[in-house]
Amino acid sequence: MAVLTGREHRLSARARRTKEPQISWLLKKPLENPNIISLAAGLVDQQTLPARLIQQLVAELFENEDAAKRALQYGTTEGEANLRRLLASRLEQAGLQGPIDPENVVLTNGSQQLLFLATDVLVDPGDIVLVEDPTYFVYMGVLDAVGARTIGVPTDDEGIIPEALEETLRQLAADGDLPRVKLLYVMTYFQNPKGSSHSWRRREQIYEIIERYSSDENYIYIIEDAAYYELKFEGEDVPFLKTLDPQNERVLLAMTFSKAFAPGLRLGYGYLPSELTPHVLNQKGNHDFGSGNLAQNLVYHALKTGAFDSHSAMLRTRYQRKRDIMLDVLRSKFPPEVKYLEPKGGLYVWVTMPENVSTSPGGRFFEEALAREVLYVPGCYCYAQEEGRQKPDNQLRLCYAYIEEQPMIEGLHRLADACVAALR
Ligand SMILES: Cc1ncc(COP(=O)(O)O)c(C=O)c1O
Repeated sequence: MAVLTGREHRLSARARRTKEPQISWLLKKPLENPNIISLAAGLVDQQTLPARLIQQLVAELFENEDAAKRALQYGTTEGEANLRRLLASRLEQAGLQGPIDPENVVLTNGSQQLLFLATDVLVDPGDIVLVEDPTYFVYMGVLDAVGARTIGVPTDDEGIIPEALEETLRQLAADGDLPRVKLLYVMTYFQNPKGSSHSWRRREQIYEIIERYSSDENYIYIIEDAAYYELKFEGEDVPFLKTLDPQNERVLLAMTFSKAFAPGLRLGYGYLPSELTPHVLNQKGNHDFGSGNLAQNLVYHALKTGAFDSHSAMLRTRYQRKRDIMLDVLRSKFPPEVKYLEPKGGLYVWVTMPENVSTSPGGRFFEEALAREVLYVPGCYCYAQEEGRQKPDNQLRLCYAYIEEQPMIEGLHRLADACVAALR
């Protein structure tokens, strides 16, 4: 039990459960020391941000004073009707069974807000949320804040291992805890931190297992976080897991304009089961009355004119090149016992060191890296913390998105040296 200081005992239980992310100190390090090369920062590529395009879209919008004033006014909680209709039709084009009711498409401040709202609407303290092992660590902060019990389900290169999911649910049922399972959170495309995607077969298996353990009384929802959907460099197109839910009952699909366009617009959206939409909107109304109207107008025009699609095509080429450079250095400069996944999209490479090499802060490898002024995300931050369960401690996430090519190569060389030193 943490010791409370000052007036902390007057804080709500929720505020006390909400902690600064463990990783914050690490992300702040390069600000203190500009010589540090961060392969940890998960920001998008600065050079490619669509500044000119947005300037042009703003200029066009502001030519019509009425339209400009509408964009500067409050909007609706759910978001601009035109944009929601357009997004619904784009989801249909992407393979979701239509007609998709735009009423269930909700604009949010990034997909992070959608994850937050959906969790708030579904999860009480003590409820269970299943996540991938490893998972998006920021979402685990949201789960901690609501007091959820987060359970990690082992994954391999194709996503959640069906037998492991089945075993987890079987055990929960045997312990009488199945009624507390509210959600499975799954990233289907180029997940953060592993960079791997769920194969179609896995999507089907996961859906089937969840359906089987779910009942009307103890219904289990799935959040499909498809944040990196647009950033596919190669490989086949795999349909959304959401396509397995044509009645729109179980899967909340979370999408964002951050990764393939501009995170500063803070715009994402959800396609939600109709039963949940009003509840998410009630919470969102309390938060902010609705996402920024101006950003929604700009995104609408970027989509309508094709500018968004050409921009994301350009990004794919750029990120693919950066990924190739990172993989080349990993291949040529790192000791052969260091293994890594080759992502077919997204922003991350997941590296596994030999089992006796800890990548955690305080460990030899981390200190060797820090001494050489290079940073990575220690894998330990990406695993659900469950008492009594041993988690891998020998992995790390590298990001090739934000960093320029030359510093990236230099940073990887430093990391390779740190590896050699840690393995000695
Ligand atoms: C998997 C995943 N989901 C959601 C988000 C939230 O991003 P945003 O709120 O910018 O859409 C991120 C951001 O890094 C992410 O990696």
